[in-house]
Amino acid sequence: MHFKLFFLAFNLALVQGATLANSPAGKACAKRSRGLQYAAFKNPFARTDEQYSSFDPTYMKSTTAGGQGTANVLYNSTTSTGFFTSDGVDPSQGIHIYGSKNSIPDYGFAVNHRGYIKADIAGVYKIQINDIDDIALLWTGDTAKSGWTRDNAVAVGYYTSYGGNGVADYTVNMTPGEYLPIRVIWGNGGGPFSLNITIANSKGTTILGEDTTPTNMVVWRACGANKNDAPPFPNTFGNES
Ligand SMILES: *[C@@H]1O[C@H](CO)[C@@H](O)[C@H](O)[C@H]1NC(C)=O
Ligand SMILES: *[C@@H]1O[C@H](CO)[C@@H](O)[C@H](O)[C@H]1NC(C)=O
Repeated sequence: MHFKLFFLAFNLALVQGATLANSPAGKACAKRSRGLQYAAFKNPFARTDEQYSSFDPTYMKSTTAGGQGTANVLYNSTTSTGFFTSDGVDPSQGIHIYGSKNSIPDYGFAVNHRGYIKADIAGVYKIQINDIDDIALLWTGDTAKSGWTRDNAVAVGYYTSYGGNGVADYTVNMTPGEYLPIRVIWGNGGGPFSLNITIANSKGTTILGEDTTPTNMVVWRACGANKNDAPPFPNTFGNES
């Protein structure tokens, strides 16, 4: 190719890339994609031991896993914060988590969260889950999308009578521009409940926490040129595999 022609083509590609990302449609897509998707579920499992062994998260996938699939889904939404508690909640008024208008009828419920962490800078990212009452499990990578079971979670924490609320921590090295799929499932077998998910980038900046605002670093899909790096998770809540 003639050098000038090559240069022209190269510039055109640059302009097109920039146009896609900065177009009103691109910006609107990015804004709509912020936060983790989550669904509140009915929780069929009573707690009968310290490890809450009866809690099998795969009931959220289908009719064949001991649950009733979509019949257990109360509602779905997105969240850009990671904290809720029963402190100060009067369950007769309904339970509202993550500022949602949707009401959860009683204490025995569970929440399935899914989405991506996008690395803006290189280094070690920290996912800290604490204040867990009763149980929380974390998956990352392909297993966060499908194939997740209680046994292959990368971190699990649960409330015990001797240790109090549980903790589940995980660290992962990321490269700039990388999208990491994550899933957090939390459940409460009745009585007081709480969950505190904090995600920090390699500089220690909290990208998901108790009172974070939406950013492009915690999303449920990517837009424009990156959209194939982070497509929406396959299937709706209650229909996963
Ligand atoms: C949630 O956990 C983070 C990280 O450990 C901590 O800084 C924060 O104070 C906790 N928030 C609550 C409400 O417990
Ligand atoms: C969320 O709920 C709506 C309304 O029921 C449904 O159409 C949609 O598919 C659900 N999304 C997910 C991701 O489950």
